[in-house]
Amino acid sequence: MVKVLFVCLGNICRSPSAEGVFRKLVADQGLEEYIQIDSAGTHAYHVGSPPDERARAAALQRGIDMSGLRGRQVDERDFYLFDYILAMDRDNQYNLQQICPPDHETKLCLFMDYADNWNERDVPDPYYGGHAGFERVLDMIEDAAAGLLEDIRKNHL
Ligand code: 4NP
Repeated sequence: MVKVLFVCLGNICRSPSAEGVFRKLVADQGLEEYIQIDSAGTHAYHVGSPPDERARAAALQRGIDMSGLRGRQVDERDFYLFDYILAMDRDNQYNLQQICPPDHETKLCLFMDYADNWNERDVPDPYYGGHAGFERVLDMIEDAAAGLLEDIRKNHL
């Protein structure tokens, strides 16, 4: 089993969207029994909350139901449990580096480094913006998710 964790700040916009998109991609390719997927936030503001309703609406338009997801905060134990810890931007990558145990650094990557068609390294925080920001986040996530699955197929399956 390959275990993948997406991490943003609040775990209500970007990382649950990445979890939802990646779950669908993995299910569509019949790989659910080989890949475990979760998401978390570096901060605790939204622990226990469902994803932001704008993120849920945008995802639902693409056939992704995120209503069952709930926010949680990442912690050091996640580095022992997961094989890939994917930061949605460099701020969160930096915060993750601060809690990463020795010898687990190679698990920590920037999610957008798996994208083929975007040069941005950060998935921008859509929380204070409008609908277009959530669409752009999903477009970026879809691209990086495809690259990530390719990497997992090559290296683990
Ligand atoms: P996320 O977006 O990190 O993509 O979940 C945010 C959600 C909440 C806040 C900031 C960003 N906040 O400040 O509450």
